[in-house]
Amino acid sequence: MPPPPHAAPQFIQLHQTDAAAVRAELAAGLLAQPAQVAPKFFYDALGSRLFDAITELTEYYPTRTEAAIFAQHGAVMAQSVSAGSVLVDLGAGSCAKAAGLFPVLRPAAYVAVDISVRYLRESMGELQQRHRAVPMLGLGMDFSSTLALPVSASDWLERHDLMVAPRCVFYPGSSIGNFSPAQAQTLLRQAHALCAAGGPGGGILIGVDRVKDKAILEPAYDDPLGVTVAFNRNLLLRTNALLGTDFAPARWRHVAFFNEADSRIEMHLQAEGAQTVRWPGGARAFADGERLHTENSYKWQPSDFDALLRAAGFGPVTHWTDARGWFSVFWGPA
Ligand code: AVI
Repeated sequence: MPPPPHAAPQFIQLHQTDAAAVRAELAAGLLAQPAQVAPKFFYDALGSRLFDAITELTEYYPTRTEAAIFAQHGAVMAQSVSAGSVLVDLGAGSCAKAAGLFPVLRPAAYVAVDISVRYLRESMGELQQRHRAVPMLGLGMDFSSTLALPVSASDWLERHDLMVAPRCVFYPGSSIGNFSPAQAQTLLRQAHALCAAGGPGGGILIGVDRVKDKAILEPAYDDPLGVTVAFNRNLLLRTNALLGTDFAPARWRHVAFFNEADSRIEMHLQAEGAQTVRWPGGARAFADGERLHTENSYKWQPSDFDALLRAAGFGPVTHWTDARGWFSVFWGPA
């Protein structure tokens, strides 16, 4: 009997924004030594559009290099991923990358996870129209704090008779690079637990940017058009909106460099002239040239990432790369 058509995705919003907690987090970051603002604050509507523009830049190679790896090796990857898996897409956003793999992966169900289902409604609605036999769930949760499926999501899987289906965690884009190695380890362990809670045959399909020459890495984070400058400075506007600070973005210079010792691109904003930033209940004086740390983007050697996946419980690990060896897509069975 053919599976029933699914007219519309289901949505569950778990994460609730706590404005006071956000203000406390931002204030603590501004008062820290050195000052910092977490990169999760990049992605408001404008920041997400600026990031999309970054992915179009000639200098920003990761997105198109990963897409080429999926295009070239997708069919072979699909031989590793069990047929009939529940595809769990972390940070799904436009769902475009997962959608591109539907024809080869042929998932039994699609669970798109993002901080807010608001970002998922339109993209999942369209995807559902194209794949009516695939049940789809949009989950609004902060998977950087926990990846444990809420009871409501387990109930949804149960209703679709999918509790014992294999689970394929899909985490493309080298977003894992925005976590420190220790945080990445925690996230991968949780991803492993998520796979282990499903049927046998699950695993993780994850995109990872690799260590390479600075001459390639640094322009990807400091492009001549200034799109990354705008992306970085938008964090100040976001902080103004959320905390009530009085940052003047034009007085902050974008700085991006490859820190070889820690194998990461670092992004900062550097004060041009001494200035005091004030907000309701607080203030921070910045000396001329003092920096505000906004992002790390770790670059991995394949052998180190392989070891990280194995330490999280996955293995034996395989990966596919591009002709220049700039980016890798790893498969780690759970
Ligand atoms: C989302 N993330 C993988 C990007 C990166 O390359 O670390 C964010 C980014 N920051 C500056 N440019 C792109």
